[in-house]
Amino acid sequence: MDPNRKDLLGIQDLSKDEIEEILKTAESMEEILKRPIKIAPTLRGITVANLFLEPSTRTLNSFVLAEKRLSADTINISASSSSVLKGETLLDTAKNIEAMEVDMIVVRHSAPGTPHFLADRLKASIINAGDGCHEHPTQALLDLMTIKKKFSTFKNLQVAVIGDIKHSRVSRSLFSGLNKMGAKVTVCAPPTLLPLWLEPFEVDFQYSLEKTLPGKNILYILRIQKERQEESFFPSLREYVKNYALTYEKLEKFASPDVVIMHPGPINRGIEIESRIADSKYSLILDQVTSGVAVRMSILYLLSKRKLDGLKN
Ligand code: CP
Repeated sequence: MDPNRKDLLGIQDLSKDEIEEILKTAESMEEILKRPIKIAPTLRGITVANLFLEPSTRTLNSFVLAEKRLSADTINISASSSSVLKGETLLDTAKNIEAMEVDMIVVRHSAPGTPHFLADRLKASIINAGDGCHEHPTQALLDLMTIKKKFSTFKNLQVAVIGDIKHSRVSRSLFSGLNKMGAKVTVCAPPTLLPLWLEPFEVDFQYSLEKTLPGKNILYILRIQKERQEESFFPSLREYVKNYALTYEKLEKFASPDVVIMHPGPINRGIEIESRIADSKYSLILDQVTSGVAVRMSILYLLSKRKLDGLKN
């Protein structure tokens, strides 16, 4: 990791070397997670605030676990428990947290650019835990770790990303990561769910699920994000399911027998993915969640290194 890096705001900002270092460090962190007593003193003296102003199961709890596993002091702030409800600005909330000698703030917010806004104004390190439809870098890194563990290499891997790409912060971070690591990416969605921001990425386009499935190593399924859709992007949910939901029948008929299924969660069983696929031998969905703790330990450690070196001297 660039020794001067203060924040982790997006995959677009990371070099391939930095991504490789994060994944390699995450492998060492996995060693701690395999011990009978899963704790190391690595982040003793470091305080982390998890400022989650949008709901989260996986990201919030894996950050909390990562912080505890590395012996950091940790506080959690949610929308319903903070003075944001009384009209305090986000910046004032964040500055008050920082005033309590907090070293790192992990931020989730519905507004794109929120972590960047805070990073420019605070001395604390900011980690983007998902900003609106923009980026979700730690999700992409845990996805890359899951892929690396399964396939050892990214070179020439064929990855299809299927679903609501337009509203997906996960997909923008993932395309950036997969492009940097050398995987081949195909996107499959109704044309209305393919955004203009795809332009700089190296991706192939496909509108037919049946034509997308053959020859792929990984099918990465995205949720239909109804909460972020202000207008109708397809005639009906029933029609979307008919054309784009991954069913067991389509999987077995068109996909390679050794294909794997990934999904960032939360999954909508019966909408973008047939329920039994999520629990099948093809699924890496829970492996992704497991990788999340090690990857977040790695990121917390690498971003704290400067401060930790200062504490030693
Ligand atoms: N993948 C993901 O971000 O899940 P959560 O919303 O539960 O954190």
